[in-house]
Amino acid sequence: MTDGSAPPTPMSAAEFVPDTLSLPDLAEASLTCRGCPLFVDTTQTVFGEGTRTAAMMLVGEQPGDQEDRKGHVFVGPAGRVLWECVEDAGIDRNDLYVTNAVKHFKHETTGKRRLHKKPNTGEIEACHPWIEAELRAVHATVIVALGATAARSLLGRSVPIAASRGASFEVAGAPVVVTYHPSAVLRADEAAREMRAAIVDDLRAASELARR
Ligand code: URA
Ligand code: SF4
Repeated sequence: MTDGSAPPTPMSAAEFVPDTLSLPDLAEASLTCRGCPLFVDTTQTVFGEGTRTAAMMLVGEQPGDQEDRKGHVFVGPAGRVLWECVEDAGIDRNDLYVTNAVKHFKHETTGKRRLHKKPNTGEIEACHPWIEAELRAVHATVIVALGATAARSLLGRSVPIAASRGASFEVAGAPVVVTYHPSAVLRADEAAREMRAAIVDDLRAASELARR
């Protein structure tokens, strides 16, 4: 800085995150987060859901249109794919904690439709204090990053998804399994079946790790 002014403070949810391990208290506090501009023009914050004792934590990108309206994670088209994969992997939905890297729906409106927009690095980092709080509150023994945004948030750097499948990463002492985002299955044509099978395989591998 040559003009003597202070550098801009990065956007952050930090001041909105209470010092608690209570998931209901964290979820409630998240409703009034103003840590970045993404809350504007949304219905609500969509916080993580599941049990504190979950062995496995799944991290998605951000809520979509349906999630924003309903206030719950993975209740739209991507959710249908995810829950089928979870079932095919032999995992009990009730033993999961499921959240997103970014907790507000980033979109642009064209006519009546709200189209998903990918969160940028500043927004992913701004929302990271919520994930940190969730990692502290839920002592998951394995974490699954669904897609690039989740991986960027958890690992603090961008990794190529296909090449990172099966690699060993760690966050907060727990292994991180990187796999495709279920919406990638919806976008893929010929590769859709393969991609879906890959997610099932990766979830199965994660549940093996969770048992140790
Ligand atoms: N996509 C996500 O990443 N998360 C959701 O909750 C819904 C769609
Ligand atoms: Fe806060 Fe995250 Fe929403 Fe931004 S996206 S306002 S940091 S909860």
